[in-house]
Amino acid sequence: MAYMDWRTTLEVGHPKIDAEHKSLVETLNRLHAAMKQGKGKDEIERTLLFMKDYTVEHFKNEERLMMTYRYPGATVHCAAHADLVKEVGTFIANFQSGKVLLTSSVLNFLEDWLMKHIQGEDMALGAFLKSKGVVA
Ligand SMILES: [Fe+2]
Ligand SMILES: [Fe+2]
Repeated sequence: MAYMDWRTTLEVGHPKIDAEHKSLVETLNRLHAAMKQGKGKDEIERTLLFMKDYTVEHFKNEERLMMTYRYPGATVHCAAHADLVKEVGTFIANFQSGKVLLTSSVLNFLEDWLMKHIQGEDMALGAFLKSKGVVA
């Protein structure tokens, strides 16, 4: 069973953003499976790094759209992105040095953040893009 299910209430209405969010949910599920199955540190680290890189790329794509269409909520939205990237970066560094382990609470934090961010800031961005007729 998947850790986090994709649901239509997570769709923001922009095809590329939605596709990237689906991939993020899948990656979170892979991370959960790796933890549950007691996979080694290397595999968990690879998945964590993939997730971070993918997230950074995804945030850049959203931010590009915000700049292009002069999104009024860009400052607050970009700050939320920067906070998460920083937090995940700190976690990965601590994981790599053996100071912390990947636990359910870390996964819960990521799931919670993703849900709230998608249904909050990203949904508002999606509505804005839709109002401008942006579909790609
Ligand atoms: Fe976002
Ligand atoms: Fe997003």
